[in-house]
Amino acid sequence: MTLPDPAARAGAILTIDLDAIVANYRLLCKRAAGRVAGVVKADAYGLGMAAVAPALAQAGCRSFFVAHLNEAIALRALLADAEIAVLNGLMPGTAGDYRAYRLLPVLNDLGQIETWQREGAAHGATPAILHVDTGMVRLGLTEGEVQRLAARPERLAGVPLAYIMSHLACADEPDHPLNAAQLGRFRSALAQLPVRAPASLANSAGVFLGPAYQFDLVRPGIAVYGGNPLPGQPNPMRATVRLQARILQVRSVDSPLTVGYGATYEIVPPAKLATIAVGYADGFPRASSNRGSAAVGGTRVPMVGRVSMDLIVLDVTAAPAGQVHAGALVDLIGPEWTLDEAAAAAGTIAYEILTGLGRRYHRRYTGSGAGAP
Ligand SMILES: Cc1ncc(COP(=O)(O)O)c(C=O)c1O
Repeated sequence: MTLPDPAARAGAILTIDLDAIVANYRLLCKRAAGRVAGVVKADAYGLGMAAVAPALAQAGCRSFFVAHLNEAIALRALLADAEIAVLNGLMPGTAGDYRAYRLLPVLNDLGQIETWQREGAAHGATPAILHVDTGMVRLGLTEGEVQRLAARPERLAGVPLAYIMSHLACADEPDHPLNAAQLGRFRSALAQLPVRAPASLANSAGVFLGPAYQFDLVRPGIAVYGGNPLPGQPNPMRATVRLQARILQVRSVDSPLTVGYGATYEIVPPAKLATIAVGYADGFPRASSNRGSAAVGGTRVPMVGRVSMDLIVLDVTAAPAGQVHAGALVDLIGPEWTLDEAAAAAGTIAYEILTGLGRRYHRRYTGSGAGAP
């Protein structure tokens, strides 16, 4: 006999709630003064762009941001009419692809502006986004480059700008002085530039810094996917993922033993251990070794010993006995042990947990986004 449902055979199940994703998008629309884009780079933060982007589009999202040109081309196949922008910029030799797939390059330096201008002169001008660096120091025009554009407005002639954007470095720390400094520099760049265009500054946490930071378009990613945009405060977003791992083996320990590679954890008997079918090969952080937790029937249980490639050991002594048996599922991310808690226990952030979600999980989507509030 074979099991009828692949989920029943799976070592771990990742459930992605499209209704929750759309509800989060709608909450952000209520908070933002202007329009709300969908940031769907890195396969929609690991949750699957092919499912997430159409659900957001159905909810009214018209503008999407990805990092790579190839991500944008994949998105164009899903959404024929959406505005799709590529954050990583206009790389040499790629202008034809931007035209062919009707994509917006984010122009990150004067050379990219010149290329798009030449391209427009040769084939007809199409819009781009101008990225001004205001303090992230990663991509975007420097203050000096903005001044050079201000002095030579013809450098932007024939370059229609859909937006002028910048990106906040410390939005998740509302009191950080860089927030106000970046806002000031962004306003100053908008005033200096020889053209006017809708402006975009805020990521998820930026939306919650208030109306001054929101401008015409906000670009939330993590909040749409349920990560807390307000660290240290209650999370206003709905959880979008549940990660359940299957118990493979349960053992009672009645004499002192060490667990796992490197013998890094000493069990004090009597104890009950459960070995589950997730490891670092599934993108689950090895840094959770001896630090992470899971939830079994509402009880939080610690990870003991090192996370190995395919396996993690839990000390389930305190868990309800009826729920600890081979084949049962425990939550690695769920209602009682959240994404942000799992990330913090591994010394990382929700972004890294989501974008690292492994390929071996049995994935299932619930909802369609259509019925979300
Ligand atoms: C330029 C830019 N805008 C917006 C976002 C979305 O940020 P968040 O996920 O913090 O909302 C990112 C993500 O890294 C980004 O790089």
